[in-house]
Amino acid sequence: MDKVAAVDAEALEREALDAIAGAQTPAELDEARVHYLGRKSPLKLALREIRDRETGMRLNALRERLEAALERRRGELERPQEDETFDPTLPGTPIPRGTYHLLTQLRRRIEDVFIGMGYEVYDGREVETVWHNFDALNQPEAHPSRDPADTFYLDEQTLLRTHTSPSQIRAMMEQEPPVYLVSLGRTYRRDALDATHTPVFHQVEGLAVDRDITLADLRGTMELFASTIFGGERKVRMRTSFFPFTEPSVEFDVTCFLCDGAGCPVCKHSGWIEMGGAGEVDPNVLETVGYDPEHWQGFAFGLGIDRIAFLRHGLPDLRLYWENDIRLLSQF
Ligand code: PHE
Repeated sequence: MDKVAAVDAEALEREALDAIAGAQTPAELDEARVHYLGRKSPLKLALREIRDRETGMRLNALRERLEAALERRRGELERPQEDETFDPTLPGTPIPRGTYHLLTQLRRRIEDVFIGMGYEVYDGREVETVWHNFDALNQPEAHPSRDPADTFYLDEQTLLRTHTSPSQIRAMMEQEPPVYLVSLGRTYRRDALDATHTPVFHQVEGLAVDRDITLADLRGTMELFASTIFGGERKVRMRTSFFPFTEPSVEFDVTCFLCDGAGCPVCKHSGWIEMGGAGEVDPNVLETVGYDPEHWQGFAFGLGIDRIAFLRHGLPDLRLYWENDIRLLSQF
């Protein structure tokens, strides 16, 4: 009797599970339930006949397994048919995404332009020594830009850099020429906040030191840079100027990207837009960093990133960069 029950139980379980899994509607499933677990089902009849404990436990366990399989199948059949309600051609629910800040985007574009010309990106420091920021750059002791009224000092020897030019000194002291680098980042001056001044602003510093570098190389580099950033074919003009760390020094302008030099409000009807300062690296600076000025020459330039973006996009006020107004930021 025991033996027969064991064989029957296995066959019965397989058959019942097949029937449950094969049921395609709740009605079919109910039929299977009546057939295998109903009052007159072979299993229920066998359970009623039980004489020994072992068989009883085995058949009860089988009953529990079949009931569980029935419940599971019922759940599957009652669940809404996903295949019918899911349309993969419908547009998804949009997830709002942020963008990089306008200045970060421009900064990266500028880096890309110079990387494309074979330059390296050098990370300078925002907290600098007075020596790197002024002395090593040939800045006289009495120069007005050293005045605490213009510069944020942390102590006698330390300040928030007033320009990115100290990166030139650090980079040259760390490596032998030739050097081709750009260094971009925040700079600090004690300017009162208004539409055209912010005490924190951004500069890009460029430095190229090699043999026989002239101002013609500087002009070519600036023209390529300005044409890529502003679009079209930009021309560069240089005006003599003075910086302690370059000799000769120039200020350079590019033809206005809006009117192409004809004159318009963006260029204040001059046809030219001021870009920044530049020049041949002063031999004193080369000597300070241990380069022999008889063998190496270079040019350096520095320009304001905020100003470029300001002009490029016709912004009315520099303070907008810092307000983080989503209506402005989401336009870029
Ligand atoms: N550091 C200068 C400034 O902030 C710009 C500059 C950089 C000029 C490199 C010449 C060479 O105004």
